Amino acid sequence: MTRKLVLLISGRGSNLQSILRACQSGQIADTEIVCVISNRAGAPGLALAKQAGIPTEIIAHRNYASRADFDAALRRSIDAYHPDLVVLAGFMRQLTTPFVTHYLGRLVNIHPSLLPAFPGLHTHARALEQGVCWHGATVHYVTPELDAGPIIVQAAVPVFPDDDPARLAARVLEAEHQIYPRALAAILSGHCRLEADRVHWSAPFPVLANTVIHPQLESVS
Ligand code: GRF
Repeated sequence: MTRKLVLLISGRGSNLQSILRACQSGQIADTEIVCVISNRAGAPGLALAKQAGIPTEIIAHRNYASRADFDAALRRSIDAYHPDLVVLAGFMRQLTTPFVTHYLGRLVNIHPSLLPAFPGLHTHARALEQGVCWHGATVHYVTPELDAGPIIVQAAVPVFPDDDPARLAARVLEAEHQIYPRALAAILSGHCRLEADRVHWSAPFPVLANTVIHPQLESVS
């Protein structure tokens, strides 16, 4: 049976695009993106979804009096599609505990840092300020605490002396596009699941487990 994804976005949509390509190519097998929902009407990712013939919805947070009201509306829209997985792909809103609890184990996010380092915003600038040698991206299950849920997979990239936030962000984004579709495929095939606050694997993460991803090098174990 075809599995269903609902993606939540706020902006550019490059992760949406990498996930869409993975669904189309069969890297994520038997899976369809049934809706892309944005909290921002001008999100460029909406156009990408429309071009691909995916239904889109705009649920503008500004139209709701409270986070609870916004999350309730979001939940109604999502649940109408009966998704197997709800995928945050650059969705820039904090979600309330009732919302997160409703989707526990079915709600995943990608964050542009090696969590638990640098939760929140401006991760690349903060990584440079701290002088870290390694930075990266994390796919994790979403729990009520921001950017703190059980980690599914991480990709590390080096930080170079002449990096600025934009260069570093581009390197991390390339890694995001590699790990997010693979993580979703693992979850949807049942190889990865959340059990009692822990991530359980019944098969190894394909190819990239414990690897460092570097744009100019082969993956290094
Ligand atoms: C990505 O860096 C993602 O990790 C973060 O927001 C950004 C979204 O980029 N949560 P895009 O919209 O997928 O291009």
